Amino acid sequence: MSIRHYLKFNDLSVREYGYLLERSALIKRKFKQYEKHHPLVDRTLAMIFEKASTRTRVSFEAGMYQMGGSVVHLTTGDSQLGRAEPIEDSARVISRMVDIVMIRTFGQDKIEKFAQFSRVPVINGLTNEFHPCQILADLFTLTEYRPAPGGNPLDAIKGKVVAWVGDGNNMANTWLQAAELLDFTVHVSTPSGYEVDAQLAGISNPGCYRVFSDPKAACQGADLVTTDVWTSMGYEAENEVRRAAFRQWCVDTDMMAVAKPDALFMHCLPAHRGEEVTAEVIDGPQSVVWDEAENRMHVQKALMEYLLLGQVA
Ligand code: CP
Ligand code: NVA
Repeated sequence: MSIRHYLKFNDLSVREYGYLLERSALIKRKFKQYEKHHPLVDRTLAMIFEKASTRTRVSFEAGMYQMGGSVVHLTTGDSQLGRAEPIEDSARVISRMVDIVMIRTFGQDKIEKFAQFSRVPVINGLTNEFHPCQILADLFTLTEYRPAPGGNPLDAIKGKVVAWVGDGNNMANTWLQAAELLDFTVHVSTPSGYEVDAQLAGISNPGCYRVFSDPKAACQGADLVTTDVWTSMGYEAENEVRRAAFRQWCVDTDMMAVAKPDALFMHCLPAHRGEEVTAEVIDGPQSVVWDEAENRMHVQKALMEYLLLGQVA
C-alpha cells in the first residue's frame, strides 16, 4: 500500500470521509463502553510539537495508547529540530523508527517536506495554514448533534451553512477546503486585512464561500457559528494591532440570535472569553465546545487506524 499522509483536508476523498465519520462513531461507542479496541498494538506514533498544545497532545497520545500503541513526544527545544538539523534528515531518521508521525509546526512547507522524506504516514496537527484534524472533529460533532434522517454522516454536512467570524487563519482555510469537498457553504466575515485567500486556502471553487463585511450578516441563517482566537500561535507580535482590528468580531448573543434557532456554536479552543466570543455564548446552551474537543480523540483514532491499516470494516 502506498503511504497516505493527512496534511490538508482535501488529502482524503468524500468516500473516505464517509468511512472515517462512521468509523469515528464506532470507535467512540467502544471507548464509552470501556470496550478494548487494539488495532495498533506494537505501532508507535511520534508527535513533534514546534508550537504549544493541550488538546492535540492529549488526544493523539491518549488515543494511540487506547489503540494498543505507544507514543514518542518531541519538541523543538528538546530535539535536534531546534538545532537546525535539516527537515529531510529528521524525517528520514524518525520515520525509520516509528510507524506514524504527527507534526505541529509553522509553515505548511515544513510538513510537506517532512512527508516527502518520510517512510510512514504524516498527520498535520496544525500549521500556519491548516488544521485538518480540528475540522474533522468539528464535522463529526455536527453529525452527532444534527444527524441526517437516513443516518449518512455526509448528508448531515451537505448543504449546511457555517458562519466563520474572525481571522482568515488556518481554521478558516481548512473550513473552505472542507466546504469545497463536502458540499456546504462557509459565510466568512473577517476584519479588513485579515481576509481568506482562496489560493492560499487551496480551493478552486469560489462558490463554496461567501464574504460578509458585517459579522452578524454572516451569521444570518447559519447552521453553525464558529470562531477562533484573534491571534494565532506564531503571530503574537501582532497582538495589540489585532485586538483593535477584531473588536467587532466577537461572537455574541445578537449574532447567535440571527442564526438558525437550532444553530450550534463551536470553537477549536483555547478560547478567550470577552475577545472572540462572549462567555454567554461559549458557556451557553448552543455551545458544543466540550464535545468538539473530546471528539478530536475519536476522529484521530479513526484517522490513524485508517492511515496505517486502510479500511477495516
Ligand atoms: N484545538 C487545538 O488544536 O488545541 P491545542 O492547541 O490545545 O492542541
Ligand atoms: N488558529 C489557532 C488555533 C489553535 C488551536 C492557532 O493557530 O493558534
